[in-house]
Amino acid sequence: MEYQIHLMNFCVWLCLSIFIVQSAYGDVSYSIPEELKRGSVIGNVAKDIGLDLKRLSSRKARIDTEGNSRHLVDINLRTGELLVADRIDREELCSEKLSCVLNVELMLENPLELHRILIQIMDINDNSPLFTKDVISLEIGEHAIKGAAFRVDVANDADIGQNSIQTYALEANEHFVLAVRTKNDGGKYSELVLDKELDREKEEALTLILTAIDGGAPPRSGSVTILISVLDANDNAPVFAQEMYTASLLENSPTDTVVTKVSATDADAGANGEVTYEFSRISEKARKLFTLNEKSGEIKVIGSVDFEDESKYEIHVQGKDGTGLTSDTKISIEIIDVNDNAPVIYLKSLNNPVPENAPQGTEVGIINVQDRDSDSNRLIRCTIQQGVPFKLVPSIKNYFSLLTTGELDRELVTDYNITITATDEGSPPLSSSKVVHLSVADVNDNPPVFSKQTYIAHVTENNTQGSSVASVTATDHDWRQNGTVIYSLLPGEVNGFPVSALLSINGDTGVIHAVRSFDYEQFKEFKVKVLARDNGSPPLSSNVTVSIHVVDVNDNSPQILYPSPDGSSVMTELVPRAAPAASLVSKVIAVDADSGQNAWLSYSIIKATDPGLFTIGVHSGEIRTQRDISESDAIKQDLIVAVKDNGQPSLSVTCTMYLVISDNLADIPELKDRSHEDNSSKLTTYLIIALVSVSTFFLTFMIIALAVRFCHRRKPRLLFDGAVAIPTAYLPPNYADVDGTMTLRSGYNYDAYLTTGSRTSDFKFVQSYNDGTLLADRTMSKSCTADEPFGPCEEPETLPQPNLCK
Ligand SMILES: *[C@@H]1O[C@H](CO)[C@@H](O)[C@H](O)[C@H]1NC(C)=O
Ligand SMILES: *[C@@H]1O[C@H](CO)[C@@H](O)[C@H](O)[C@H]1NC(C)=O
Ligand SMILES: *[C@@H]1O[C@H](CO)[C@@H](O)[C@H](O)[C@H]1NC(C)=O
Repeated sequence: MEYQIHLMNFCVWLCLSIFIVQSAYGDVSYSIPEELKRGSVIGNVAKDIGLDLKRLSSRKARIDTEGNSRHLVDINLRTGELLVADRIDREELCSEKLSCVLNVELMLENPLELHRILIQIMDINDNSPLFTKDVISLEIGEHAIKGAAFRVDVANDADIGQNSIQTYALEANEHFVLAVRTKNDGGKYSELVLDKELDREKEEALTLILTAIDGGAPPRSGSVTILISVLDANDNAPVFAQEMYTASLLENSPTDTVVTKVSATDADAGANGEVTYEFSRISEKARKLFTLNEKSGEIKVIGSVDFEDESKYEIHVQGKDGTGLTSDTKISIEIIDVNDNAPVIYLKSLNNPVPENAPQGTEVGIINVQDRDSDSNRLIRCTIQQGVPFKLVPSIKNYFSLLTTGELDRELVTDYNITITATDEGSPPLSSSKVVHLSVADVNDNPPVFSKQTYIAHVTENNTQGSSVASVTATDHDWRQNGTVIYSLLPGEVNGFPVSALLSINGDTGVIHAVRSFDYEQFKEFKVKVLARDNGSPPLSSNVTVSIHVVDVNDNSPQILYPSPDGSSVMTELVPRAAPAASLVSKVIAVDADSGQNAWLSYSIIKATDPGLFTIGVHSGEIRTQRDISESDAIKQDLIVAVKDNGQPSLSVTCTMYLVISDNLADIPELKDRSHEDNSSKLTTYLIIALVSVSTFFLTFMIIALAVRFCHRRKPRLLFDGAVAIPTAYLPPNYADVDGTMTLRSGYNYDAYLTTGSRTSDFKFVQSYNDGTLLADRTMSKSCTADEPFGPCEEPETLPQPNLCK
């Protein structure tokens, strides 16, 4: 090396010497390489210029540098050689100038001489290529395509020419190659050219070493580290951890309950890898129930979750990264039922009202129970309250029939509030109940019922027309018109009179009015039937007997049947002379149409031909001899008898009884007179004879009959010890039909008067007056019950035989 420089220096020196020779008194120039050691000889300037060595010192030869530049060269006065005085650095003196010339002057005095010396400084390769930075940082997006070029900062080499940077070299790598370009000015720069695409997800950064090499000999190099950061491109979509998520959620879960959490990852970096979540497909319903945290992916409850509303939700969630790459996942949320719904009872139909005569098992209603829960939470038991005549019978599915279990009676229970309870099988069970109001409709099943079994009314005879006589009431428990009672009299006849001619009834009140004035002697007692009918359809009715008892008023005088009261016929009784004392002579027969006390007759003789001869039974009317008849007694005896009833006031009549004391009717001459007096015809006489015969016959018959009866019954009381025939012709006409037995019982007419009508009172009276005892009462009691003294009562066997019998 040293040798080379010397050789070169020599050559330069040789050339310059030639140059100096050619310009003898001009300038000299030398060429030296830079960086010569101090003291190195550049050339012998004295010689080259032709100066006398010996005089150099004396002439004070010296080197002047232009300006006050550093003193780089000097002259050896002794040898006249130009020497290197200081370090000569071409790069410092000339930097990049291609030719670098150092101008110095050699100055001599005595005489002043000035020589210009040009020293050409030659470059040597003393500088390495140098990059401005130690590390070059490049950021390259991963999406950069093949062929993309990235310029790298140029390296510098202070040397020039061949010593400057000639080439670059890049460390081998799989992505980049180096391209060296030449600038317009001839300068060179390098570019990294992408040969294989980058993938940040594989390699986030690359380190490359770029080396610059100059052309010196030996060459020098400098290198730089290129740090390539691969910039992310959003080339990855988010990926969900699960393709599908399933979650289950209890219904009624409180808000903020976490249902599930989705998560997606994105291989990209930064914003490109930041995933946000949102619902991509969701029903309106679900949107109100669930919320999605867009950052965390957590799905929470925000509404009230109702299994009965929807039991399953399907939601699609989308994950999205910074620049909008997305992916989807499906979330299936199953709602778990909670027993939160009580059963509901629906009344599907109700036959209201139900008629009370509906047979047992009649379906009155249909009930449906529903529970919106599921499984066992919707299994329902249905019960009905106790104590009502209804039951529930399961029908198809959740239907129940409400049936009657017995007969209904509106008159007992008019309406029912039936409580039906439905309970589900959940835990805890829920239940609900419903009250079914059911009315019982009336059916006309109750007839009117009279308040008494029979009615007895007493009405005083001679009453005013229209006076109220009696009142009946009947009740009917049915409803409204089915229970409205209307009264009417059943048509019929009483003694030939239509009932309507006697009585009328107020259809609404049941008050019975007399249509006419009653006469006890005509109607002692009669019965009518009152009908009570309701207004139903068909109507029901019942009837009751009303006994009307006409109460007697003493409005009838006693009536003498025998003897003829007005004396129109000759009534003469024959009294045998031999008749002993107290023998029955005759009998006054009188009747009173009244009854009771009003018909209780008493007899008295108010005037007699011989007052001491005859007496009359006060109550029997029997005329008896008081003493034996003597010869002295007059043949004709007349008695005036008064008959008086016991009414208040009492009424009385009188009659005259003609008696003849004789053993033979023919003996009596006066009879003719009397016949004459009595103004009787022959017919009358025959009539009397006939009557007497009939009476006698009848009397005999009766005696026999009664004797037989007496013997049988051993009832000695009713001795028939006297009777007088009574001609039917004498009977008052209005008595005839009382019991329609006149023809058969003409002889008992009197008895009949007393026993018809009000039997009790009259009968008792008659008995007591006949016998002075109350025996008949006992007889009555035997054959009559106390409750029903009339209807079923048989006629007492011991018919009273009043006046006639004694
Ligand atoms: C049924 O309920 C109604 C109304 O709640 C009430 O007026 C009626 O008296 C009740 N009937 C019975 C029989 O309890
Ligand atoms: C009366 O009874 C009949 C059946 O006998 C019934 O149809 C009717 O509705 C009832 N009337 C009332 C007012 O209840
Ligand atoms: C009166 O009632 C009886 C029994 O109570 C009955 O047999 C009769 O037919 C009824 N008469 C009328 C006319 O309704």
